[in-house]
Amino acid sequence: MRVRLSTGLIGALAAAIVAMVLGEPLAQESQKSVWSGIYTPQQAERGAAGYAQNCQKCHGAQLQGLGEAKPLTGSEFLSNWNGLTVGDLFDRVRTTMPLDNPRALTREAYADILAYVLKFNGFPAGPAEMDHRTEVLAGIRFDAFRASAARGSLLAHAFAEPVPNSQPNPYVAQPGFLAFPAGRSAGSTSGVAVDSQGHIWVADRCAANSCDGSDLDPVLEFASNGAFIKSFGKGLMVFPHGLFVDGHDRIWVTCAQAKDGRGAQVFAFDSQGHRLMTLGKAGISREGPDTFSEPNAVIVARDGTILVADGHSPGKGPARIVRFDAKGKFLGQWGTRGPARGQMEVPHTLAMDSKGRLFVGDRWNNRIDIFTPEGKLLDVWTQFGRPSGIYIDKADRIYVADSESRARDGYGHNPGWKRGIRVGDARTGAVTAFIPDTETDPESQATSGPEGVWADSHGVIYGAQVLRKGVMRYLPPSKP
Ligand code: HEC
Repeated sequence: MRVRLSTGLIGALAAAIVAMVLGEPLAQESQKSVWSGIYTPQQAERGAAGYAQNCQKCHGAQLQGLGEAKPLTGSEFLSNWNGLTVGDLFDRVRTTMPLDNPRALTREAYADILAYVLKFNGFPAGPAEMDHRTEVLAGIRFDAFRASAARGSLLAHAFAEPVPNSQPNPYVAQPGFLAFPAGRSAGSTSGVAVDSQGHIWVADRCAANSCDGSDLDPVLEFASNGAFIKSFGKGLMVFPHGLFVDGHDRIWVTCAQAKDGRGAQVFAFDSQGHRLMTLGKAGISREGPDTFSEPNAVIVARDGTILVADGHSPGKGPARIVRFDAKGKFLGQWGTRGPARGQMEVPHTLAMDSKGRLFVGDRWNNRIDIFTPEGKLLDVWTQFGRPSGIYIDKADRIYVADSESRARDGYGHNPGWKRGIRVGDARTGAVTAFIPDTETDPESQATSGPEGVWADSHGVIYGAQVLRKGVMRYLPPSKP
């Protein structure tokens, strides 16, 4: 067989020989990749707007792909482009997209949109904007899975691993740790928290998945060894949902449904169970300054400001964050319902980092929206999956419970993401551990594994479960 070598092939062979002579490591390190910080945050911000205008209708608000239009995130997308160059991706997009109007945008606009796509996939930003010349971008490798390719670059940080579900699980699960009182079984729960003494508090749906018509107490306290201490709150709630213990060990609970003159309220108790504050009107489910529709979650900032996430139903009702002063006076609210950046669809859970940034688990949109406590959007994260619960500890370690992600269409659709608890760094956004859900066929269940999540001062994780009821405990690797 006669082999005809093209000049391109000869060039490639020559380059390969040079690389062999120079040695593989040197050649690797001098190569720029998507890990080198090849776009700026401002550029990605512009790109987000460009994407919303030109790509979103086909590829989806979460880049998840719709119908024929493939996902622009997740393992399949990353595998498709792995090993090629940013120039290849740039030209593919520029010459064929938007599908109904290719080459419609300027090169600059395409580069901005690509910057946004890279950011969305967890590749770090850097000091300089992405170039819009194909030949320059052809020198940047799309090394989808290898952060190490950027070793030696000062900018290599952010995510050690952008591949969903791939982080290690060093935790050991301990089911049945909490000893419920005699005659009472654990119910569905989406709220668990630990106070300053290490006591574990649970918002339990009255041994069932609702307190409607029940005279059981929904709020239970357990000692750090799991022994039951006491309970309270009977007759106040229909669907206990969010639980938060503040810096003064006050126990805050939301009830997300209203029925027969009860519920759709937010309660604060002292640790003895005395009611200190009530927000909302009993049994009235309505959006207003002194009423809630479906209050999911409550959190208290260090200055005493109370923030409530309202709206549990996708497609109807509010999706808002309501602010009150420390005495419960209405201060204001923000949020409209929808998929766009800055909107929310189901603000299911709240957490705050040491800088006072508010993390909203925007469950229906499969993302975390990060706001100032006044409602200015700071960032949007997708690398923690579809959040039902978020907790951030004093050292800014973040714990996110995903109880709903599903590959198939319909409720929970979030292809590429598995359910479980993701642990990471609330400052950089890196995901460092993943505790997978143990349900055998999660696709057949709307919810499984923990919804609510908290960690104690030793890093022991508690997960509040709806489907399998009760609370799961996870021991960290260092715990003797
Ligand atoms: C009218 C619908 C539509 C619009 C608008 C659109 N796309 Fe696409 N896109 C598609 C379809 C359909 C495919 C799959 C068919 C194909 O590969 O050409 C696709 C494929 C892609 C791919 C290849 C995916 C892969 O896994 O290799 C990329 C990248 C892409 N689009 C980016 C974009 C960007 C960026 C925009 C906005 C500038 C955009 N698209 C706008 C419909 C659209």
